[in-house]
Amino acid sequence: MSGPAPTETRESLTTQRRYDRQAAVYDLTEAPMELLALRGLRRRLWSEVDGPLVLEIGVGTGKNLPHHPQGVRTVAADISPRMLHRAASRARRVGRDVDLILADAQHLPFRDNTFDAAAATCVFCSVPDPVAGLREVGRVVRDDGRVHLLEHVRAANPVIGRLMDLANPIAVRLSGANINRETVSNVTTAGIALDDVESRGFGIVKLIRGSAQRPTRR
Ligand SMILES: C[S@@+](CC[C@H](N)C(=O)[O-])C[C@H]1O[C@@H](n2cnc3c(N)ncnc32)[C@H](O)[C@@H]1O
Repeated sequence: MSGPAPTETRESLTTQRRYDRQAAVYDLTEAPMELLALRGLRRRLWSEVDGPLVLEIGVGTGKNLPHHPQGVRTVAADISPRMLHRAASRARRVGRDVDLILADAQHLPFRDNTFDAAAATCVFCSVPDPVAGLREVGRVVRDDGRVHLLEHVRAANPVIGRLMDLANPIAVRLSGANINRETVSNVTTAGIALDDVESRGFGIVKLIRGSAQRPTRR
């Protein structure tokens, strides 16, 4: 595990503290969602990820590690040292070789075009500035490299969407996750080309497939 303390902004520090606080109970509190929906979708997402060098953003306690493709080198980043500590234990338990680094998705410590692909599950609901984080993903993934996301988003239904807006401050306080993010449009705003979006869970869960593209120079 390596990297500098990624707490450049107050919001990043708050996010880091929120996830540090819940690291020990995270797997337990997320278990129902995991069983109901997420496990299958993780498997699905990772079956499409190709290397040779892959970045996972917001690795958390390492729930994706068992799904990382064999024969691919994976670097996995998170802003929370305690979540990373759990991920390191899981990596040992499931026999996965992964480079775990402490890093803020909004300021990734990698050169442009470093990775062949990137993946994240349930992360851009928590990154303080999701567009900045997604821009960083697009920067460090090579041109045309794939970006794979599994995210919960704001409901398209206006009534449910509004209820999610109202409940959001409580959700953020309790879990660190915003429940009303517009992650599909954030992806395009960040300059990642949208290849495909699959909806699950009444449209609230999205499997998003994109491709990094270099900005055209004028
Ligand atoms: C809801 S958890 C999801 C963890 C894991 N991906 C999963 O599917 O179980 C969100 C994770 O994103 C991390 N995170 C939030 N903001 C981040 C940022 N700016 N940079 C890196 N990681 C971040 C949190 O520390 C936490 O581990």
